[in-house]
Amino acid sequence: MLFQKKAAEQSRVLPAHIGIIMDGNGRWAKKRGLPRSAGHRAGAGNFRTITRYASQIGVKYLTVYAFSTENWRRPQEEVGALMTLFRQYLEEALRDFMDENIRVRFIGDVSRFPEELRELIREVEEASAPKTGMVLNLAMNYGGRAEIARAAQLLASDVKAGKVREEEVDEKIFSGYLYTAGQPDPDLIIRPSGEERLSNFLLWQSAYAEFVYFDILWPDFRPRDLERAISIYSSRKRRFGGV
Ligand code: FPP
Repeated sequence: MLFQKKAAEQSRVLPAHIGIIMDGNGRWAKKRGLPRSAGHRAGAGNFRTITRYASQIGVKYLTVYAFSTENWRRPQEEVGALMTLFRQYLEEALRDFMDENIRVRFIGDVSRFPEELRELIREVEEASAPKTGMVLNLAMNYGGRAEIARAAQLLASDVKAGKVREEEVDEKIFSGYLYTAGQPDPDLIIRPSGEERLSNFLLWQSAYAEFVYFDILWPDFRPRDLERAISIYSSRKRRFGGV
């Protein structure tokens, strides 16, 4: 038994970059007869637990989908509750992360958020910039297609300004215009809640990512489930288009 455990540990390959689609907060709340905002609160608490755990086991990059470009379509009350949670977490949990040497970055168009939240985003990014541990990318008002369109726009403007030659544009140069410029692509993307969709998350970057779907709602997703996902990932053969 001990031998088996050891063997399993030895074959564990830790992904350098993990992406998580934190899905299922609404259903978690509904199952308990609670308002959706209670599900988001539970989800936010779990975000804190899982982020800490990922950092402790040595994950280098963690990207979490906190708010998509499509989430504005939700009832005003729910969007408002999410904004309150974001504010609260930027003030508390993210400062805690700094004690753990985590660098917090935001990916997405944060210009649409209320000024107070934007100010906090700036503060957290600035204060955590010197941190050398795990990079936590918070995807907020993020959409993969919007990110690609934005990159194309920035690149076109650099071509126009003569900073980049049209014929030198390739995947590597293009990647440099994405929010995740300079970071490795995600190796593993996890989606709890049973849905099997990418939902506009890291579209460009996930070209060769391994996907793991779980039938667990995000607030119930535990560190052991992250370990389970890593162990599934470890057992996969990544061929990157080769044989
Ligand atoms: C999807 O579940 C989840 C969201 C749209 C919000 C994710 C936000 C958090 C986990 C909260 C906080 C994060 C930070 C960074 C503090 P859903 O509402 O679509 O669930 P459902 O599919 O069951 O309705």
